[in-house]
Amino acid sequence: MSASILEVKNLKKYFPAMTNLFGKGTEFVRAVDGIDFYINQGEVLGLVGESGCGKSTTGRTVLRLLEPTEGRIIFDGRDITHLKKKMLRSIYKHMQLVFQDPFASLNPRKKVGKAIEEVLVVHGMKDGAQRRERVRELFDIVGLRGEEDKYPHEFSGGQRQRVVIARALAVNPRLVICDEPVSALDVSIQAQIVNLLVSLKNRLGLSYLFISHDLRVVKYMSDRVAVMYLGKIVETAPAGELFKNPAHPYSMALLSVVSALNPGKNKKKVILEGEVPSPVSPPSGCRFRTRCKYAARICSEAEPQIKCLGGGHLVSCHLY
Ligand SMILES: Nc1ncnc2c1ncn2[C@@H]1O[C@H](COP(=O)(O)OP(=O)(O)OP(=O)(O)O)[C@@H](O)[C@H]1O
Ligand SMILES: [Mg+2]
Repeated sequence: MSASILEVKNLKKYFPAMTNLFGKGTEFVRAVDGIDFYINQGEVLGLVGESGCGKSTTGRTVLRLLEPTEGRIIFDGRDITHLKKKMLRSIYKHMQLVFQDPFASLNPRKKVGKAIEEVLVVHGMKDGAQRRERVRELFDIVGLRGEEDKYPHEFSGGQRQRVVIARALAVNPRLVICDEPVSALDVSIQAQIVNLLVSLKNRLGLSYLFISHDLRVVKYMSDRVAVMYLGKIVETAPAGELFKNPAHPYSMALLSVVSALNPGKNKKKVILEGEVPSPVSPPSGCRFRTRCKYAARICSEAEPQIKCLGGGHLVSCHLY
């Protein structure tokens, strides 16, 4: 068994942006454009970046809900990049997705307990009594004891996200990809769901890829954080280190928002100027150069290599 539950190597996902007369793509949205990362067993890797930088595409491609354009996805030492569709079920036993909108991911006409039983049937649990017992246990661990006979609309938003989490956990996964799991919830409920995710991780030994806009939540949840910009990971570091000493000018600007909110700290919010360029034709060299106040000639000429600053702190920037 490898130490990493997930390893992603040079992963790319391009979507056709325009097609020619023959239906072939002529231009591509380079949503994810050659990223490398790993998640260790029991670890939470946060993934942050502005809207449209490729976070969800990364999560969905890792799960093979989207076909990768290039690169490798290695789950628990096994290369799943080209695993046939019908073989993927064996992977979904170990890797699950929780996303933003719990209402959209639940069938409104099914009692939630029954819906989870169906997942268990698909994964081979034939005995009805055993399934019902498992559903009871799942509702118990997500804090909804005895609520399995209700329909989705009978729950509040936060409770529905608990149901979705119970469903993701039904098959005993080892890695859960959480894509903005609290963004659609009332602020007052968000902390409860975040705390539930933390306690489940500790109790069940889960690993998470935790995608979120909310940097404070990411800081709280993550062991390490990767910062994405326009399809690339520009910096990865242990969470405490990244929030204290961001090295990439993009991370500095992004994270300064959190520092500026911290009372007692005399840090200024760095304003990110300019628009995010199109992922169809990203800037040459460093993709951030068009918005970077440190940009020099080299930045348009060559793509920066990944450099290690020590202590697992990696950055792709010509400043280093
Ligand atoms: N099916 C698709 N077809 C074409 N382009 C797509 C498709 N899905 C995503 N994209 C594009 O890929 C890029 C990355 O999108 P993605 O949803 O991964 O970003 P994100 O970081 O999750 O953004 P957000 O924070 O808003 O959720 C965007 O430019 C988006 O428009
Ligand atoms: Mg997204």
